[in-house]
Amino acid sequence: MGKIVAANWKMNLRRRSACELAAALKTDGRECWLFPGFPLIAPVADTLIGGKVKLGAQDVSPEQDGAFTGDVSAEMLEDAGCEMVLVGHSERRHIHGEDDALLLAKLKRAVEAGLKPLYCVGETLKQREGGKATEVVKSHLAILSEMGGADRACAVAYEPVWAIGTGETATPEQAGEMHAFIRSELTKQGLGQLPILYGGSVKPDNAHALMTQPHVDGVLVGGASLKLDSLRAIDDIAREIG
Ligand code: PGA
Repeated sequence: MGKIVAANWKMNLRRRSACELAAALKTDGRECWLFPGFPLIAPVADTLIGGKVKLGAQDVSPEQDGAFTGDVSAEMLEDAGCEMVLVGHSERRHIHGEDDALLLAKLKRAVEAGLKPLYCVGETLKQREGGKATEVVKSHLAILSEMGGADRACAVAYEPVWAIGTGETATPEQAGEMHAFIRSELTKQGLGQLPILYGGSVKPDNAHALMTQPHVDGVLVGGASLKLDSLRAIDDIAREIG
């Protein structure tokens, strides 16, 4: 498999801007993964029909359909055209206080409904400075062993919290080191084949150095995925590396 480029649009874009971006990527024949906000999923899914771009959601309810006001079930996402879903993104862990028990329930539900989780892990600056980065990442990865069907995830993303949306990126060496650690932890769980993406202020000018590190199988891009030019540039770099 070539390098993966995944776009996390977070709480950005509108129907028109999202569909324009999606249409351009489809016309280019690109194979990247898009994660739009909930109301944008259905129109973007329609736009992508017949192309190679894959679609995912940014969150999923741990519950099945029912009386859960404001939640969106895995079945609804599947029905709207999603194949994948982000679980464990640091903005969910830290802003919404999602803990391991909740994330495990979300992972299980996603897989039961046929969605492939893109499971995100990563340490805060304080944890890194305290020498706890690998311990934290190891504990995030541990819940994969409890979920059953973790081999149906589409990828794991390493996103150091201090590098997300800050303009600060892990150096290629820091990313490479942590990706090697994640690969060894996943291998112990029989999940050594899962792609590992890097995320956190990925831009056209650092994408090559990051994606050429061993065990960096692609990138999860936030801010730079909102503009066609920068997303295309990152995807071109991924295709060049192969
Ligand atoms: P960023 O976001 O590229 O804007 O840092 C990455 C992410 O949170 O997935």
